[in-house]
Amino acid sequence: MERDRLQSHARPARGVRRDRPARPSGPPAGASEPGASEPGVRDAAPAPAADPAVAARAPDPGVAAPAVDGAPAEPILVAVDLHRRYGEGDVAVNALDGVSLQLPAGAFTAIMGPSGSGKSTLMHVLAGLDTPTSGTVTLAGTELAKLDDRRLTRLRREKVGFIFQTFNLLPVLTATENIELPLKIAGRPVDVAWRDQLIETVGLSGRTDHHPAELSGGEQQRVAVARALITRPAVVFADEPTGNLDSHSSAEVLALLRRSVDELGQTVVMVTHDANAAAIADRILVLVDGRIARDETIAEPQQVHRLMREVR
Ligand SMILES: Nc1ncnc2c1ncn2[C@@H]1O[C@H](COP(=O)(O)OP(=O)(O)OP(=O)(O)O)[C@@H](O)[C@H]1O
Ligand SMILES: [Mg+2]
Repeated sequence: MERDRLQSHARPARGVRRDRPARPSGPPAGASEPGASEPGVRDAAPAPAADPAVAARAPDPGVAAPAVDGAPAEPILVAVDLHRRYGEGDVAVNALDGVSLQLPAGAFTAIMGPSGSGKSTLMHVLAGLDTPTSGTVTLAGTELAKLDDRRLTRLRREKVGFIFQTFNLLPVLTATENIELPLKIAGRPVDVAWRDQLIETVGLSGRTDHHPAELSGGEQQRVAVARALITRPAVVFADEPTGNLDSHSSAEVLALLRRSVDELGQTVVMVTHDANAAAIADRILVLVDGRIARDETIAEPQQVHRLMREVR
């Protein structure tokens, strides 16, 4: 039943999302450091949503308000002229060759492009997991290069959620323990109500004491989605999150990510090779040879297929 409901969200009608009442703006995204991980937009009534249990939780202040129709949202992430070179001399590879972009808060952005075009490199640099050779990344108002290692680690813990193709769950921990792990590492208390709400939302009630080896690939990835959302990060980065999943599990995970955007105001950036997966995003960036070759708002799935044919 839960699956059916999630499936039905896999291809949301654009009009449905546009009809959402806009959330009031929170404080400037970076203004709330270092207590930014607390539940946010405190004075804002949460928007009505398809699932009241999900909607009851307002987004983090780092998860600044999505765009009011017609008005651009404040960017939660700004990258300026990013270069990332691996190696030197004749063997040097310019994995990123001048990438600039802005991500509005509360938007779902897909990144596509041929293998080796720099998608993973870009995600890692944007998330502060890798350092650009030159250029700047400003996440939730904080320029990453200005942080020392300790502060960068803390910012990553508080502001970034990462979902990997290979799930990256700890095998010795149960599903619940994996979901709680980012909070435990950060020494933060677990908001049990929020955790349980996430577990229910991702459809894992009844599987919470299972270890990863006892879960299907789709279930493991749903644990990873809940783990990415538990800290209410400013941005969730997902690098081919459906790459190891069958089509049914893929649809579920994509629907979850879509709902986190629509109902929680979450900002999501997802790398994918699958044009159908990319079509659930609001915007698509196509990387070719470390540069943004196309940047388009997605109106309909066919557009993504056409786009990919054009850049091939
Ligand atoms: N650690 C590294 N050392 C050297 N070269 C690297 C390293 N990581 C990536 N590269 C190179 O940088 C380029 C971009 O790699 P990246 O992994 O970002 O591509 P991608 O678009 O994610 O590809 P895929 O779709 O296959 O995952 C490639 O030419 C790759 O070989
Ligand atoms: Mg990659």
